[in-house]
Amino acid sequence: MTLRIGLIGHGHWGTNLARAAARTPGCVLAAIADLDPANRARAAAAHPDVPVTDDPAILVAGPGIDALMIATPAGSHVALATQALDAGKHVLVTKPLAPTAVEAEALGRLATARGRVLLVDHTFVWAPPVTAIRGRIAAGDLGALVYIQSERAGLGIFKDDVSVIEDLAIHDFAIFDHLLDRMPARVSATTATTHPGLNSSAAWISLFYPDGLVAQVAAHWLAPVKVRRMTVAGRRRILTWDDLDPVARLRLHDAGADPVDRAVPGRAALAYRTGPVTPLPLEAIEPLAAELAEFRDAVAGTIRPRADARAAARVARVCDAAVASAMGGGAPVAVDGAEAAP
Ligand SMILES: NC(=O)c1ccc[n+]([C@@H]2O[C@H](COP(=O)([O-])OP(=O)(O)OC[C@H]3O[C@@H](n4cnc5c(N)ncnc54)[C@H](O)[C@@H]3O)[C@@H](O)[C@H]2O)c1
Repeated sequence: MTLRIGLIGHGHWGTNLARAAARTPGCVLAAIADLDPANRARAAAAHPDVPVTDDPAILVAGPGIDALMIATPAGSHVALATQALDAGKHVLVTKPLAPTAVEAEALGRLATARGRVLLVDHTFVWAPPVTAIRGRIAAGDLGALVYIQSERAGLGIFKDDVSVIEDLAIHDFAIFDHLLDRMPARVSATTATTHPGLNSSAAWISLFYPDGLVAQVAAHWLAPVKVRRMTVAGRRRILTWDDLDPVARLRLHDAGADPVDRAVPGRAALAYRTGPVTPLPLEAIEPLAAELAEFRDAVAGTIRPRADARAAARVARVCDAAVASAMGGGAPVAVDGAEAAP
């Protein structure tokens, strides 16, 4: 079976989704809609055989289209996804799926009622380093996790419908959700804004898990140097992921601090272990290629998407708590639906 996919929104990100759909075996990029004439011209130039329109309703109603990818600004996702599901299309929506967890869950229920796949484009959950980190955690190679620290910075596009939390930090929340299979109990966040009246453009967010694990995210739209770095520290070993490192993006450090019998006064009874650093091999696959293949297979009924409306709702709950905490000056806020803290 060939999955015929339409794209709504051929802007910065939609361009990548269109390319991925056109390249994925078993998928055909069937049509593109965009309100902006310049982006329609770019779409027509990149995909000369694909019809391009200014009216998304044509794609929603299109009888020759099985599925829609939605890559418009965040505020339009719920309405467009609802129309697409009501019209019987399978839907891939980029992040954030919805402004609230309640709306994300409602979309999930609608997809179930219509018997359609709803996949959320939390792109990094298909990234090979995330797959490798998840495997190492599951295998116990790191030991009990102590902390995760992530920095996601660069000169980002200042959005007017979401803050840097829902735009950038949401990637980390989705990664943590996929890596840990559990939710934080509480979240604390502080934010900064470059210009009065604009959404916050810098955020420092701590996620507190019931077992003592702390995950921290620093997300910035205003940074002169692009940074995509994460440390996942366990008692036994530590992983470092630098997505911009051209030599080795993921490294396993046999480093830690082990208990010793003889205590030196004034020092903890621990000895440092600084063993070898091993660059880890990564699958040679683009995250979007893996994501589109999973969308195709989910529509065929052979798998469940790893990022569905329920995952998006969990991530939205963390976003909600972070925004509420930032508004309250950084005081920790309980995450709705999470297991209570001990
Ligand atoms: N998954 C990721 O890694 C990732 C990365 C970047 C952006 N995004 C997401 O992609 C979405 C779009 O971001 P962007 O940076 O591409 O924005 P953009 O402004 O570059 O593109 C949005 C496009 O949608 C079009 N559009 C708006 N409303 C429309 C409608 N009702 N019908 C048809 N076309 C419409 C606009 O004309 C524009 O071309 C956002 O939700 C953003 O969070 C995801």
